[in-house]
Amino acid sequence: MVNMKLPTLFLLSFAGAALAGSKCKPDPPPFSTFPRRIIYDPPAGKRASYPRHVELRDGTLLVTSSVIGGDFLNNRNSSFPVFESKDGGVHWKWISNITDQVNGWGMSAQPALLELSKPLGGFKPGTILFSGNSWSENGTRIDLYASTDRARTWQFVSHVAEGGRPNTTNGATPIWEPFLLEYDDELIVYYSDQRDPKHGQKLAHQRSKDLRNWGPLVNDVRYDEYLARPGMTVVAKIETIDKWILVHEFPVGNSSSYGVNYPVYYRIADEPTKFDSAPGIPIVIDGKLAPNASPYVVWSPAGGPNGTIVVSDADRSEIYTNRFGGDPDKWEMHAIEQPAAYSRALHIFRKHPEHLMVLGGATFDEGGPDELSLSVYDLKEILKTRIHPA
Ligand SMILES: *[C@@H]1O[C@H](CO)[C@@H](O)[C@H](O)[C@H]1NC(C)=O
Ligand SMILES: *[C@@H]1O[C@H](CO)[C@@H](O)[C@H](O)[C@H]1NC(C)=O
Ligand SMILES: *[C@@H]1O[C@H](CO)[C@@H](O)[C@H](O)[C@H]1NC(C)=O
Ligand SMILES: *[C@@H]1O[C@H](CO)[C@@H](O)[C@H](O)[C@H]1NC(C)=O
Ligand SMILES: *[C@@H]1O[C@H](CO)[C@@H](O)[C@H](O)[C@H]1NC(C)=O
Ligand SMILES: *[C@@H]1O[C@H](CO)[C@@H](O)[C@H](O)[C@H]1NC(C)=O
Repeated sequence: MVNMKLPTLFLLSFAGAALAGSKCKPDPPPFSTFPRRIIYDPPAGKRASYPRHVELRDGTLLVTSSVIGGDFLNNRNSSFPVFESKDGGVHWKWISNITDQVNGWGMSAQPALLELSKPLGGFKPGTILFSGNSWSENGTRIDLYASTDRARTWQFVSHVAEGGRPNTTNGATPIWEPFLLEYDDELIVYYSDQRDPKHGQKLAHQRSKDLRNWGPLVNDVRYDEYLARPGMTVVAKIETIDKWILVHEFPVGNSSSYGVNYPVYYRIADEPTKFDSAPGIPIVIDGKLAPNASPYVVWSPAGGPNGTIVVSDADRSEIYTNRFGGDPDKWEMHAIEQPAAYSRALHIFRKHPEHLMVLGGATFDEGGPDELSLSVYDLKEILKTRIHPA
């Protein structure tokens, strides 16, 4: 409105300056906040999907994703590109590809990354662990790999679990979507499991003290209703109340709640191995809107005495927050620019715990963005403005 009163000449030169400014827009400073930057734009016909990341102890960020396109079922050449940033996500370098070294099936989908903080299985602290789903017409395998040279090369460590060929129909027996957590001198691998004949799909985990021998399957989320298909575990610690949160999507047949088929649910437990007995709670904003599908969760100490739980879903650009230790009635929704994507990932920086990274790739259906990109926000700024669903 104010601009309309300015002389035309000033407006023109102002517009010219703005245009020139945007053409040679300087890079943001290292470890700052910034809107969307592209990490990797895959070649035509390929889509970077389901991004995951790890922040190493020295602040280096590593990002990977599956690259989909081509034969879904039998693609022995499929691999995960790995990108490195030394300045908090401003600049990126492609440093390796994680390939399937043992199955002859390819490294198909659903990556997970973690840096060891303690020695485990003969590996030193600083070793980077990777898990993903290697599949073909003959099965699904959640495999574990390690890198002792900062993600330059990778070595196969063990098969964690194996299921039937990829098939999301109830009654088929694949496994999906590993998530890694270091806990109590063990590695936990959470995953989605269709092998139990009592459940269309359930969520479970296995633990290892040596990264090679895997303990018994422990249930995390299962429902008596056979058609229930809880999926896509992500776990975070809520430090202020010393509890753990697990988020998952929760389709049940074709039923819908608040107009969505894959509502996002969460559980809070005293230990990350004890979610099975915790109640499942839906995220609902203002009693009106439910996030949908492929959630991610992180916790930040910023935002209040209980810090802030931050959740992302597949359908919306917006993020969801809870500053009351997961109180079911205290979820909020906030606008951000980073576009919606399938299984978008979130990260809170170790040295800047008020900085929230939102890491995105392709949408589930074709037609959205195809590239890997990230934004970094000041969570305290985001929390200042809520969106109330109509
Ligand atoms: C896989 O890679 C090999 C070697 O580069 C190539 O000959 C083959 O055509 C590729 N297969 C597919 C399905 O892309
Ligand atoms: C990763 O693999 C692609 C081919 O899929 C190749 O072009 C690229 O050079 C590889 N990058 C690294 C760092 O190994
Ligand atoms: C699946 O197993 C059959 C029988 O062993 C074999 O002929 C086929 O090549 C396998 N397919 C893949 C992709 O490994
Ligand atoms: C998927 O699983 C269902 C249930 O077991 C089965 O009927 C169907 O044939 C499977 N589809 C494929 C392509 O294997
Ligand atoms: C969901 O609806 C589709 C289309 O109406 C139907 O084919 C399918 O069997 C239904 N699935 C379940 C689990 O009810
Ligand atoms: C922090 O979270 C706990 C657990 O939900 C709750 O009992 C407590 O009231 C919360 N405190 C504040 C200040 O939100």
